[in-house]
Amino acid sequence: MTTISLYNPGNITFGRGSIDQLVKDDISSGRKRVFLISAEAVLVKIKKQLNALQNSGIIVHTDTSLQNEPSFNDVERILAEARDFMPDTVAGIGGGSVMDLAKLIAVFTTFKEPVKNYVGSGCITERRTHLVCAPTTAGTGSEASPNAVIFDETDNTKKAFISPWLIPDAAYIDPSLALGLSAYITAYTGIDALTHCIETFANKKAHPLTDTLALKGITLITENLLKATKNIQDIQPRISLSLGSLYGGICLGPVNTAAVHALAYPLGNDYKIPHGLSNAILLPYVMEFNLGAAEEKYAAIAEAIGIANNTTRRIMAIKGIAHIRRLIEDCGLPVTLHDAGIKTSSIEKMAISAMEVKRLLNNNLKEVTLKDVIDIYQHAL
Ligand SMILES: [Fe+2]
Repeated sequence: MTTISLYNPGNITFGRGSIDQLVKDDISSGRKRVFLISAEAVLVKIKKQLNALQNSGIIVHTDTSLQNEPSFNDVERILAEARDFMPDTVAGIGGGSVMDLAKLIAVFTTFKEPVKNYVGSGCITERRTHLVCAPTTAGTGSEASPNAVIFDETDNTKKAFISPWLIPDAAYIDPSLALGLSAYITAYTGIDALTHCIETFANKKAHPLTDTLALKGITLITENLLKATKNIQDIQPRISLSLGSLYGGICLGPVNTAAVHALAYPLGNDYKIPHGLSNAILLPYVMEFNLGAAEEKYAAIAEAIGIANNTTRRIMAIKGIAHIRRLIEDCGLPVTLHDAGIKTSSIEKMAISAMEVKRLLNNNLKEVTLKDVIDIYQHAL
């Protein structure tokens, strides 16, 4: 067994009303200046909590300007605002984009060097500003991961920052914040979380320390995603999805994802398809590609989904992939690249771009060549 290190937020608060605990903890901490990154729709939901913070004498500077997945321009623009404000706490309350941005703002508020100099794994070695995150979707698991992904406008690719310093000091997972999220966004963010669990479990770096969480995440998400999309105000499936997403996020640190994510990134770069949706389109196709090398892992995933273990491991694995494909379809998500508006003429360029994501392709159970990537995209057309 290999040795891995699992870094988690210093404090994880999970359950309905967790957002109230964020307020209590911040007030009792004695910190006085909160730079809050969020979205207008979220501010409406947390109005009471924001008032409580401000009534306690804490100054809250709110930025809701992020509209899409964050770019380096967004980081620099919001960083300038944060440096002027000089926060002692950065809070990210929102989806994965908001939390990823908040992580980098917390690190670089007190740094002078260009943010781009720190792209990569282990390049960030310090953070002086307290960082708290609260997800409002059940998707990226960013509240528990050491990752932040930023779009680079200069070369049209996504760049990843990976460091234990990007793990929040405290994470507050309040499933009620996701209530009312549209069925469509619920579906693709949920498939992103499912992909984290699948790709960290069926992975060259998979480890028993995270396997249990990943499998449980797969069970929770596959049992509850459709329910959450059918009734967007039902708290019960939201609780399960939030937990599954958290488990996936915890697994991302020591293991990280593999070929699905590597092939998904170019869809976001060139076509601005949301991260979760890109994964949702590609997940079944990449699983089919991996089948020969991942038979046992995928059979275990099928068991976690609840498929009766009464046949060969290969057939179990195939049934598991079919179940996941059906789930994606039943959730109303596009199931081909064509459905998502991607043209045949883009495939070669996207494949070359995907091959650059070696840090994730290297994790894949089956070796992936440029020709393989082109073939997978063509199957997915
Ligand atoms: Fe993801």
